[in-house]
Amino acid sequence: MKLQHGAATLVLGVQYGDEGKGKLVDVLAEQADLVCRVQGGNNAGHTIWVNGEKIVTQLLPSGILRENCEIGIGAGVVVDPFVLRDELKKVKSQGYDITPERLHVDYRASVILPYHKNLDLKRELERSKNTAKIGTTGRGIGPTYASRAYREGPRIAEISSPENFHAWLNANPHLKEGLETKVLDEFLETAEALRPYMKDLAMIANNRLAQGARVLLEGAQGAMLDVSFGTYPFVTSSNLVAGSCAGGLGIPPWKISNILGVIKAYSTRVGNGPYPAELFGDFADELRKRGNEFGTNTGRPRSVGWLDLVALRYLSRINGLTGLAIMKADVLSGIEHIGIITAYRDKRTQKEMVGYPMTQSAWENVEPVVEYVDGWECVANGLLLNKQYQAFIKKIEKYVDVPSVYISTGAERSEGLWV
Ligand code: IMP
Ligand code: MG
Repeated sequence: MKLQHGAATLVLGVQYGDEGKGKLVDVLAEQADLVCRVQGGNNAGHTIWVNGEKIVTQLLPSGILRENCEIGIGAGVVVDPFVLRDELKKVKSQGYDITPERLHVDYRASVILPYHKNLDLKRELERSKNTAKIGTTGRGIGPTYASRAYREGPRIAEISSPENFHAWLNANPHLKEGLETKVLDEFLETAEALRPYMKDLAMIANNRLAQGARVLLEGAQGAMLDVSFGTYPFVTSSNLVAGSCAGGLGIPPWKISNILGVIKAYSTRVGNGPYPAELFGDFADELRKRGNEFGTNTGRPRSVGWLDLVALRYLSRINGLTGLAIMKADVLSGIEHIGIITAYRDKRTQKEMVGYPMTQSAWENVEPVVEYVDGWECVANGLLLNKQYQAFIKKIEKYVDVPSVYISTGAERSEGLWV
């Protein structure tokens, strides 16, 4: 696929996160001039494999490995300064020295403070007493977005000088929790070190677009975790759908010319919440092992299941996907029959559900209708012409009415092809 000049391409996860967006963004970034994160924070974890070396990022966009492109952290992101500092150090030790000329962190991004992390853990503990906890990553993501909605949390611009930050804390004294002298000193030192990266990224992005740059927006998590359109309340706390991504950077929505939805050939979910496609038992364990489905960030084992076309069709509409990228089909190689969820039935009535579940009780009564297709032996580069595999892809395309544009056949950057 060719990235268009003077336009943006959006890469979105359209399951529950961990679809393999990082790899696709890395592949596309070869052509990009600017790659930006637009929402979420270090709840994300992107894995890229290059020549046998594993590179994991949390806050930095997956464009870091392509020296030709600038990278940005947009206004819609929540930034933990300690995490950003450590990540820059880590990728530097792997040979990627990210200079302030290359990385731009928007002044308007919200700052994660120790207070927000504590609150995240505290709220999860409370929830686990009365109801199910959400199973957050514990990084303070939700409380930081809430703090923004409350208009009490500082933004990156406010930590660019100690005077600003002290004034901010004095106006919102409860945010000082967890910032004892030693931590505060380290925080200010970190903020000082990050200062050269703090910029008006929205203006930079718009200027670059006007000059004909090719921009990539990298979504984090997956649309099923969108705070409005996902399985609320078991979701993350930001909007992830395509309609909100332009706003996470500050570019006009009409500058986005392509919206690529990334899916795995099966599905996974971390944390709690509705997951009709979930599989259990030995087969699930085997699939988890084959796909190495353990959290990039938290190491938690992911729940695994079949591909859910009901959810995918719903999300294709909401996001206006222009193409699908299908990842990890190689993981299913050798499995005789592959399941696909093609409808939701209501357990109580045994009738097919009309519309998408909106309440918790509707979710509890979802019974997935599974269709099985023939499996394939192997999906290596160039061998895509496997009949069973093609039939699988055609079924997805037909059901969701979106063409597939990229097929990944392995973890390495080189393993995959454009259709
Ligand atoms: P939070 O984003 O830390 O508040 O977590 C809320 C929910 O989103 C939990 O179920 C997390 O497991 C899930 N989540 C957050 N970020 C990711 C991600 O990058 N991949 C997969 N799941 C995620
Ligand atoms: Mg991930």
